[in-house]
Amino acid sequence: MSDKSASNAMWGGRFAAGPDAIMEAINASIGFDRRLARQDIDGSRAHAAMLAAQGIISDKDAAAIREGLLTVLSEIEAGTFDFSTALEDIHMNVEARLRDLIGEAAGRLHTARSRNDQVAVDFRLWVRDQCDAAEAGLVALQKALLGQAEQGADWVMPGFTHLQTAQPVTWGHHMMAYVEMFGRDRSRFADARARMNESPLGAAALAGTPFPIDREATARALGFDRPMANSLDAVSARDFALEFLSAASICAMHLSRLAEELVIWSSAQFRFVAMSDRWSTGSSIMPQKRNPDAAELLRAKIGRIFGANVALMTVMKGLPLAYSKDMQEDKEQVFDAADTLMLALAAMTGMVGDMAAQPDNLRAAASAGFSTATDLADWLVREAGLPFRDAHHATGALVAEAERRGCDLPDLPLEAMQAVNPAITGDVYSVLGVDNSVASRLSYGGTAPDQVRAQIARWRADLG
Ligand code: ARG
Repeated sequence: MSDKSASNAMWGGRFAAGPDAIMEAINASIGFDRRLARQDIDGSRAHAAMLAAQGIISDKDAAAIREGLLTVLSEIEAGTFDFSTALEDIHMNVEARLRDLIGEAAGRLHTARSRNDQVAVDFRLWVRDQCDAAEAGLVALQKALLGQAEQGADWVMPGFTHLQTAQPVTWGHHMMAYVEMFGRDRSRFADARARMNESPLGAAALAGTPFPIDREATARALGFDRPMANSLDAVSARDFALEFLSAASICAMHLSRLAEELVIWSSAQFRFVAMSDRWSTGSSIMPQKRNPDAAELLRAKIGRIFGANVALMTVMKGLPLAYSKDMQEDKEQVFDAADTLMLALAAMTGMVGDMAAQPDNLRAAASAGFSTATDLADWLVREAGLPFRDAHHATGALVAEAERRGCDLPDLPLEAMQAVNPAITGDVYSVLGVDNSVASRLSYGGTAPDQVRAQIARWRADLG
């Protein structure tokens, strides 16, 4: 990165001296906004073409600008571009290089435009791409979960509330719960994308421009649905970035819950899943260890995304209209959050795809902890006509009895059951097995394998 001092070539007309070195350091954004290079050049090309079509600049200048911008882009992509801190940001770096390449015509590009609408359009284009990337990453993760669900649609495992054994559920049902969550995450990104897809270009500094520009044309050229209707709003809005961060935060929260389950499930105490070697590490001192580092790191990295959301909310709160330099602080937060989200999605997709659920361990755990106590209470309601509260009480007494004997509910002798409630018959044993328990929960959205398979089929048709 070179350092051309003296007064700024882009706006230094009224300045006698260059900025203090610290001023330059706090002011420059080129260290990070160079990631907007492609979007900046796309926006400039659309703007130049429109200026020529409207007769605001000549076709000859527009052609030179177009060619020059393509050269700048290829230099940036090849890594040969010399970024300058003195030129502050990506917009002025690109324009200065364009002037080196094509001379005076470069100075006409900024007609009827300001860096305020320029950065707004660049950043919107960038965040829009990230919504698409998040969507694609989520689809891949859903497919990995769906594969797990298909494999174990009827594998019985304990379902938990308070992380205490509650009722048996199926592995497929548990996997599909996450497919639903990540489906809603996708729709949040899609909603945000649809709302952000309006063009700020042509708002100029804040008030619009006296030049006869065509904002519809530039909006269309950049894939936006329409131009933004208020120029003050166009240059000061960052809610599009905040919507991305909010959707990313909720998605990250879901990822972190799944990561936590993987950490628990892969522990020696649970052994519900064996994580692949590809996603585990060993310990340098304890030879038996297989640590689920990827899941732990994912669980922790999520904090960066929440942090970005809070940071940008804080930057934006209390800013008067229209543009303030505070808004330059939007980009690093969003870049880091987007990078973190994509890494987390990729890691989770890999872990889920490669993990091996352990059906025998799942089943053994499902049968422990009196997991079919609710089935027993339901039987008392259905077959013995007890009010549910009374059935609940009687079942509690039976659980206590089983606990005292050190056995599970299906192992309690009939006499012991009848001692608690004489209406109990041998038929009760038919509901105490875990397979019967899950198969009976056929209500829509319930854990019965038939229900789970129907949900899997619906998603399979949707995801391909
Ligand atoms: N680097 C600036 C940003 O990211 C670009 C806009 C600068 N506008 C200005 N009026 N100084 O926000």
